[in-house]
Amino acid sequence: MAENILEVKDLVKHYPLTQGILFKKQVGAVKAVDGISFELKKGETLGIVGESGCGKSTLAKVLMNLERATSGQVLFKGEDISTLQGAALKAVRRNIQMVFQDPYTSLNPRMTVGDIIGEPFEIHPEVAPKGDRRKAVQDLLDVVGLNPEYINRYPHQFSGGQRQRIGIARGLALKPEIIICDEPVSALDVSVQAQVINLLEQLQGEFGLSYMFIAHDLSIVRHISDRVGVMYLGKMVEIGSDEEIYENATHPYTQALLSAVPVPDPTARESRERIILTGDIPSPANPPSGCRFRTRCWKAEERCSEEVPLLAVPSLLEGAAAHESACHFPEVREQAAA
Ligand SMILES: Nc1ncnc2c1ncn2[C@@H]1O[C@H](COP(=O)(O)OP(=O)(O)OP(=O)(O)O)[C@@H](O)[C@H]1O
Ligand SMILES: [Mg+2]
Repeated sequence: MAENILEVKDLVKHYPLTQGILFKKQVGAVKAVDGISFELKKGETLGIVGESGCGKSTLAKVLMNLERATSGQVLFKGEDISTLQGAALKAVRRNIQMVFQDPYTSLNPRMTVGDIIGEPFEIHPEVAPKGDRRKAVQDLLDVVGLNPEYINRYPHQFSGGQRQRIGIARGLALKPEIIICDEPVSALDVSVQAQVINLLEQLQGEFGLSYMFIAHDLSIVRHISDRVGVMYLGKMVEIGSDEEIYENATHPYTQALLSAVPVPDPTARESRERIILTGDIPSPANPPSGCRFRTRCWKAEERCSEEVPLLAVPSLLEGAAAHESACHFPEVREQAAA
């Protein structure tokens, strides 16, 4: 059993909602992340999926310490990093790096590729290579499959896929242990997506990295993830091994997401029931009582509006590969298997 490199305990991030211009009064809160617990094991890839606005990027930012948690804990190798400050925060921060969604806006257009990839060395001179930094940057270009001679070029001289490679090279510069990829391929052409995902997998093997891989839908994370967590309105609703989630999902929301995953085999496609969710996602400033998914759930009963379902292994799954789901009426649906 691999050790946990990251443990997240009851993590909460609320953004205050204020009213008034002169005297700002807090009138509520956007509950972007609202009590999430999970762990990331060393060397694994944890996929995180969920619709737009469910709190995926907020979760990433809090884990990266770019945003302060409202409450809860983030343990990196057993140490709570969510309250660190100053030098201690800086020291731990280099261990967790991020690759962003949009390679077109996340790279400074006025900096050369060499300066972009080498920038982390300026911020963390204590871990920068002792000798030739330029050579170190060229090595990083080579590692991500770009020509080291491109070091003096600017971002606009590269394609989308190449820019994402530059973002990955920058993320690797400080030899982090964890990389959080926030929709790293969503802005890329389908043909390029696979290349970038292959690169990430290859780098994981080479450097022993642990990944969190955020995406909108289950089809992208399937190939890369060892485990998958499904988020809905600031909560984790189901989490388990890749196999369990794709074959034994018990949460209606996961089943709905699975039913939307494209199936290449036409006979399987025909026999499958497509679950169309009705209604909009409620606002995270005013989430439904009880189970947050109940307003869009076809199985919802009175209990669902009264009682918050806990993330736990449902009794119908007990066994070796059982996984956690937060539903009062968990059930495995045949047609959910994609
Ligand atoms: N700085 C902020 N201030 C106030 N509200 C915020 C802030 N950042 C995010 N939110 C809100 O928090 C919620 C979660 O946003 P977040 O960006 O984490 O979602 P997401 O799952 O990453 O969505 P997407 O798939 O569109 O990237 C949204 O309702 C968003 O409007
Ligand atoms: Mg996001």
